[in-house]
Amino acid sequence: MITAYDYISAGIFEEAGAHSLLVGDSAAMVVYGYDSTIPVTIDELVPLVRAVVRGSHRPIVIADLPFGSYHGSVAQAMETASAFMKDGGAQAVKLEGGHPVLPQVEALASAGVPVIGHLGLTPQSVHSLGGYQVQGRGEAGEILLRDAKSLQSAGAMGIVLEAVPAELAARVTEILDIPTIGIGAGNATNAQVIVWQDLLGMGEGRPPKFVKQYAQLRSPIRDAVASWVTDVCSGVFPGPEQTYN
Ligand code: KIV
Repeated sequence: MITAYDYISAGIFEEAGAHSLLVGDSAAMVVYGYDSTIPVTIDELVPLVRAVVRGSHRPIVIADLPFGSYHGSVAQAMETASAFMKDGGAQAVKLEGGHPVLPQVEALASAGVPVIGHLGLTPQSVHSLGGYQVQGRGEAGEILLRDAKSLQSAGAMGIVLEAVPAELAARVTEILDIPTIGIGAGNATNAQVIVWQDLLGMGEGRPPKFVKQYAQLRSPIRDAVASWVTDVCSGVFPGPEQTYN
């Protein structure tokens, strides 16, 4: 599973063999430039889901339900999931949290909505977690295990485990029948998910410890655009080959 937020990247990731595309609320930060995932809205995410659905055919497209769009009630969660599925064309939704969102997961699943849970470092709760840090150490690990089992019983079709000790992720994977999808959760989960800008080195500064960069695209893109700017400013571009007679 890899994130995608637009038509072209969705097509490229499908060609690369990705099984599923997550239109993550990480779009808040990597597309919209907010400093957390909290501000992003349904109206900002639905068009990205539509673009990813248009750009891909085989992979399942999963839409992240943004902060505040499902916590209020089961009815609110249903309405939000509907927006992402009917207006956006998503085939599944993802939401964050354990015990407090079980009624929402149960209602969505029984209405035929494939739901993916998300435990561990849940970025929508960054303020109550005290920052972006590893979760599930000690007693918190037992709570996470219970939440994972409850999400499965409520009808979740999979669970993302973010920034948790590898041993805990392995235990969760072992006890569940549904797949686990890890990000910063070691290699025992059934699948992995990554934000594509992290994977391909698009960001500034050091990526998180759990990221392996398979390319560093920020510099070649910057350098190519810089060459174009120089050529335009000096009159070298467009040349005769790029000009209609
Ligand atoms: O929003 C997102 O991209 C995510 C993944 C990091 C799992 O939730």
